[in-house]
Amino acid sequence: MSQAIITTLTVVGVGLIGGSFSRALKAAGAVERVIGVDQDADNLALALRLGVIDEVAPSLAEGVRAAQVVFVAVPVGSVTAVVAQAAPFLPPGCIVTDGGSVKEELVQACEPLMPADTFFVGGHPIAGTEHSGAAAAFAELYQGRRCILTPTAFTDTAALNLVRSLWQAAGSRVECMEAATHDRVFAAVSHLPHMVAYALVHAVARSAEEEENILAFSAGGFRDFTRIASSDPAMWRDIALMNRGALLDMLDRYSAEFNALRERVATGDGPWLEEFFHTSKRLRDGIR
Ligand SMILES: NC(=O)c1ccc[n+]([C@@H]2O[C@H](COP(=O)([O-])OP(=O)(O)OC[C@H]3O[C@@H](n4cnc5c(N)ncnc54)[C@H](O)[C@@H]3O)[C@@H](O)[C@H]2O)c1
Repeated sequence: MSQAIITTLTVVGVGLIGGSFSRALKAAGAVERVIGVDQDADNLALALRLGVIDEVAPSLAEGVRAAQVVFVAVPVGSVTAVVAQAAPFLPPGCIVTDGGSVKEELVQACEPLMPADTFFVGGHPIAGTEHSGAAAAFAELYQGRRCILTPTAFTDTAALNLVRSLWQAAGSRVECMEAATHDRVFAAVSHLPHMVAYALVHAVARSAEEEENILAFSAGGFRDFTRIASSDPAMWRDIALMNRGALLDMLDRYSAEFNALRERVATGDGPWLEEFFHTSKRLRDGIR
């Protein structure tokens, strides 16, 4: 085991992302003590029982009082409120960072909430599963996966470096990106696919109401494609609303492509369809 990078980490929201961060850092010997805060008392008790955290905090205020680093891993719609409530109780030198899937609005809202001599660093680990809660957390989640940090002109360099070293200890490859760029990129490669998967399940389920048993025949394609529609609904409601602008742009682009495809299916334009599929295959095969 390597030497600990920090003594005390407080995780607010001990679910898949927060719990896995704790597990990964504990496994790497990068933290001495992890305190858990969660609005769901049962989840917190389970996290303690499973060894995801070392201690349960009686309140958010108590939980952050002794923290060197606070990792906020609640749904994006709650991150700012958590940071605002925690701010008066943060000890000097404390670094608050988050794992939210949308960055610009969060970073803009959280930075000004930080008291003097405390620091905020926005982050987003590019790793996850469709499962939620402390029971879903595992130490290897971040191994070899990217973690995006979104520093601004106000970000403290030492705080940024410390958060970077924690994610590296968790196994991640860390990259810095402007928050607005992050939100456009992930609207395209993550948020749009989730919206398409959710809509596809609806479309097929509605057909199933007319045509009995359709879903019983669901084969590899439908199952593979819609796996992400099992993700947590509240989390995705928050992401869709918070990244609304970039997501609407991607939904419009998708609709345009989809309508063109529909048109060529309707007119029976085989050569166009083959070329369209050929281009998609080439682009998809090129992703490493
Ligand atoms: N699941 C993914 O694939 C994934 C990937 C990258 C980033 N994220 C981001 O990570 C964050 C957490 O996602 P997750 O998948 O771990 O969700 P999760 O549901 O597994 O865990 C979230 C936890 O936060 C708790 N919580 C909610 N509101 C709270 C509040 N106000 N105060 C204290 N606790 C609260 C919940 O009880 C729950 O235990 C989200 O912001 C999400 O956008 C998720």
